[in-house]
Order: sequence, then C-alpha cells, then structure tokens
Amino acid sequence: MCRQLEQELSVMSGKKLLITGGAGFLGHYLVQVIDYWNRDYRPSEKIDLTIFDNLIRGLPEWLAQVKEHSSIKLVTHDIAHPLPDDMDDDYAFIIHAASIASPTFYRKYPIETMDANVNGLRHLLEYIKQQQEKKHQPGGFLFYSSSEVYGDPAADQIPTAENYNGNVSFTGPRACYDESKRYGETLCVNFARQYDLPIKIARPFNNYGPGLKITDRRVLPDFARNILNNEDIVMLSDGTPTRTFCYVADAVVGYYKLLVHGRNGQAYNIGTETPEISMAELARNMAAQAKALFGYTGKVIITASEEKEYLVDNPNRRCPRIDKAVNELGYCPQTEIDEGLRRSLLWYQGNQVAEEA
Ligand SMILES: NC(=O)c1ccc[n+]([C@@H]2O[C@H](COP(=O)([O-])OP(=O)(O)OC[C@H]3O[C@@H](n4cnc5c(N)ncnc54)[C@H](O)[C@@H]3O)[C@@H](O)[C@H]2O)c1
Repeated sequence: MCRQLEQELSVMSGKKLLITGGAGFLGHYLVQVIDYWNRDYRPSEKIDLTIFDNLIRGLPEWLAQVKEHSSIKLVTHDIAHPLPDDMDDDYAFIIHAASIASPTFYRKYPIETMDANVNGLRHLLEYIKQQQEKKHQPGGFLFYSSSEVYGDPAADQIPTAENYNGNVSFTGPRACYDESKRYGETLCVNFARQYDLPIKIARPFNNYGPGLKITDRRVLPDFARNILNNEDIVMLSDGTPTRTFCYVADAVVGYYKLLVHGRNGQAYNIGTETPEISMAELARNMAAQAKALFGYTGKVIITASEEKEYLVDNPNRRCPRIDKAVNELGYCPQTEIDEGLRRSLLWYQGNQVAEEA
C-alpha cells in the first residue's frame, strides 16, 4: 500500500491528518498504512495523525497495539458534538469516516447515524472554512458517503456511474443512512463550490477484509462467524441479491488517492466492477475457501432474519462503474475475490476472540 501511495503520502508528509471514525473497519488500514509509513517506510517524512472516535464499541486490539508503539493520537470524541475547544487549528488533511455503517446497527440507532453524517460533517466543514479564513490552506477533505446513495438502481443503471441520481426511499428503515449520506454530499458540494474548498467524496461499494468486525452483522463477517464456529452458513435472504466485493487494502489506496488528487466537490465510486456475485455464490465460495484452509464441511442454509426489516429496501443489485476513479486518480483494485476471501478468513481465524470481546 505504501508503495502504491508514495506520491500521495509524500504530499502529506510533515502535515497534520485527522481521521474521524479511525477505530473502525476502514480505519484499520487508513491508520495502519500511515503508521507503517511513519515507522518503516519513510521515517523522514512522517505524517502527524490524530484519530477522533467515540469508541462506542470499545478500543479495538489493533489500535491499542498501534498506540503503544507510535505517536498517533487518539481522542475519544463524538463527532455529533461540537469540536473540542483545544483542537489544533492546522489539520491540513481530514478524513470523515465516523458513522455507523452496518445496516443492523444504523436501523437500531438512526438518529445517531444521521447526526454523524450531517451535524458531524457540518462541524468539520465549518472547521476547514475557518482554517482557510485564517490562511491555513486545507490540503484535502474526504467525506465517506456510500454506494447506498443510489438505493436500488433501475436495471439499465447497472453498473452504476456517478451521474446516476438514485432510487432511494426517504422514509424507509435504511433512509437514516442513505439520505444522510445524500444530504452530506449536498453539504460537501456546496461548501466546495461556495468557498472553493478541496472537498472530495468517496462512495465505497462493499469493502471487505481484515478489520471488519466479526460481530458487525454485515454479510461477510456473518458467514465467517458461522464457518469459524463450525456451523452451517446461514443466509438471511433467498441468496439472489448481488454485490461486487472490493478488498479493503485496494479501496484504502483509492481513498488516499482521492483525498489528494480528487477534483473539488466531486464524488467517486470506489469498488470493483467484477465479479458481481450473488449472496449464494459468496456463501459457496467462502465454504470452498474454508474447506481448503480448515477442512470446513458445513453447508449453506436459508432462514429468515429475526429482524423484521432486514430485507426492506435491500438493493437487488449493486455494481459500480469505476472508470472515473481509474482514469482520474490512477485507482487500480487488484485483489481477486478468492484471494481476498482467503485472507479474510485467515484474519478472522486469528482475530475472532479479540473481536468478539
Ligand atoms: N465499509 C464499507 O464497505 C462502506 C461502504 C459504504 C460506506 N462506508 C462508509 O465509510 C465510513 C467508515 O465505514 P466503516 O466500514 O469503517 O464503519 P465502522 O462502523 O467499522 O467504523 C466507523 C467508526 O466510526 C465511529 N463512530 C461512529 N459514530 C461516531 C460518532 N458520532 N463520533 C465519533 N465516532 C463515531 C465508530 O466507533 C467506528 O469506529 C462510514 O462513513 C461508512 O458509512 C463504508
């Protein structure tokens, strides 16, 4: 990752970077790539990293370890609240990744989800606007939106490009997430236009891999959990909805490229275009990988979720066009799904106990 990001991380060297939500899944690599850059790869070009996270689900083991050996600062802060009074006023780069991201949890905490994506975002946008007024020219601001802004696209909009306006319920059980991401994007675009600020927007498409908590209730860790508990894989749909899954290390390279090179006020899909696979295929693939790795012999069974709104407004297909990020940023996802699943299962095997805690 550092090799692919030499140019971008060099631009950030000697500067302050703030990552909100840095204790989460994407934080796992967003933070560790900076840690590795600072410690081993370019110790002479350190990036001064601070994380704001409310640590609502505790301090993950990997971050506790990073904190022990590095100078990375971790501030327990809820981004929905006003920014801390003693916050440094010279963060050149900001990544706003703080939000509940798992459908099960955002349906449970809809107000908190909206607050992080709207009020939290607004605090940070006001901060960089003030920075610019104080002549601390911001280098880049990245807002994590989501592929969910497209809702359930019409068949002729698959694969989905950035100029598709979406087909989204604004009152359904997922609306707290989808609509707050959409309004977040509107805030970003208008701050970028009105104040000429370097604000960029990422629309991630189903990232997966090391760092994604096994208890997160997203489909891939749920299947991994079944496998590691030596149970059958439980599918909570009929298995037909499709997704393209993007290995997290590839995506995180894309996010840093976007932060540094993305055009102001522009949104970029970050994911992979192929293979688009059904949940049934994902389950079978993971079972096959697990058989080769651990001799797993379980089968795939279908059952209904105990959560009655589990499938309400669940998109049937989700598949991006990524040519904008490829052509403009040099984004280039390269991890094959089989290899990504293999690495994920090995990571879950080594981290399950810590993550379950
Ligand atoms: N992972 C994906 O595939 C994906 C897809 C689409 C969008 N996204 C977006 O990317 C961002 C990061 O996603 P993730 O998968 O790492 O999620 P995650 O849930 O693993 O991590 C989010 C982190 O944000 C923190 N957080 C939540 N609310 C907060 C608040 N109010 N104040 C401070 N911290 C708060 C949590 O404690 C957690 O550490 C989110 O904005 C998410 O919506 C992710």
